[in-house]
Amino acid sequence: MSKIILTGDRPTGRLHLGHFVGSLRRRVELQNSGAFDKIFIMIADAQALTDNADNPDKVRQNIIQVALDYLSCGLDPAKSTIFIQSMVPELTELSFYYMNLVTVQRLQRNPTVKQEIKLRGYSDDDSDNKKGTPVGFFCYPISQASDITAFRATTVPVGEDQEPMIEQCREIVRKFNSTYGETLVEPEILLPENAACLRLPGTDGKAKMSKSLGNCIYLSDSREEVTAKVRSMYTDPEHLQVSDPGHVEGNTVFTYLDAFCKPEHFEKYASCFVGRKASFSFSSLDEVKAQYRAGGLGDVMIKNFLNEVLNETLEPIRQRRAELEKDIPAIYEMLQKGCEAAREEASKTLADVRRAMKINYFEDGKCTL
Ligand code: TRP
Repeated sequence: MSKIILTGDRPTGRLHLGHFVGSLRRRVELQNSGAFDKIFIMIADAQALTDNADNPDKVRQNIIQVALDYLSCGLDPAKSTIFIQSMVPELTELSFYYMNLVTVQRLQRNPTVKQEIKLRGYSDDDSDNKKGTPVGFFCYPISQASDITAFRATTVPVGEDQEPMIEQCREIVRKFNSTYGETLVEPEILLPENAACLRLPGTDGKAKMSKSLGNCIYLSDSREEVTAKVRSMYTDPEHLQVSDPGHVEGNTVFTYLDAFCKPEHFEKYASCFVGRKASFSFSSLDEVKAQYRAGGLGDVMIKNFLNEVLNETLEPIRQRRAELEKDIPAIYEMLQKGCEAAREEASKTLADVRRAMKINYFEDGKCTL
């Protein structure tokens, strides 16, 4: 069986470090590993509209921002098909059929949907001025199952918050295959290996980096913006004096170091740990953590170090973005080609689905009573 990747992002904003460590960095590695037969990367505009119906400009503008983020991180259209969800209408038709295989109650149990409904302030009671849950939003896990199955994806690299979506997709596949015969491929989730990357906290220490919380470091942020954000980052509220013992667990700076720091950084950025009052020489993150726990290592030093590490990661991405921004029509052209290729693929699956469901009336030659 072919090994096929499908994954994607909602174009509701530029992509940030949470996207990068949760999935983007991995995608580029998988792309370049040559271990996959096909790779589809989707800009999920239709899904973005499920809770942004009144803001089409935002979705429209962010299509190109997300495409720029993809290419600057190293996704290569020669190896990965990058496309826009709504330009593949086959996905919508699949969703309509899959809806019959999922109950309202099952959707209500989906933990990510539950959490997102709360986060968006949708109420059970939509009378007066309260806003209820849009049906489209409620059903987006079903649409996501269409995205995945349309491309016969075997592997879906995503962050931890997407786990319930992939589980729900697997259920739909099993239900479809047992009802209509073996047709769809059951995908596997591919989570980040590093625990710090499963869900990168925001710069304020809140559980998730999210645009609506205003706690993001964007891939397109300048060096100055990154520095300012790192400086104001949440650390350990009990670490008041440099000499106090500090906490590493729940300390955002250390979580980010867990996600980004590489062995060579200690020598390269050794000067971050040289100060007027105290100097240290570290050769691993464990040593930094031990010193922080013991006391004497200040937040300014670990923040300066993190700032160097982050900017080293982001600088090549920024440079590529600046180059790519010089020719935006070329990006649109790349997307259009991607959409055409994606559509061709999805229409094959849709034909299989219609055949399995016996709604291929003029194809099977059964012109009988
Ligand atoms: N829900 C995903 C997100 O918010 C985006 C997405 C849409 C997706 N369809 C998908 C991810 C299919 C993986 C597979 O990031």
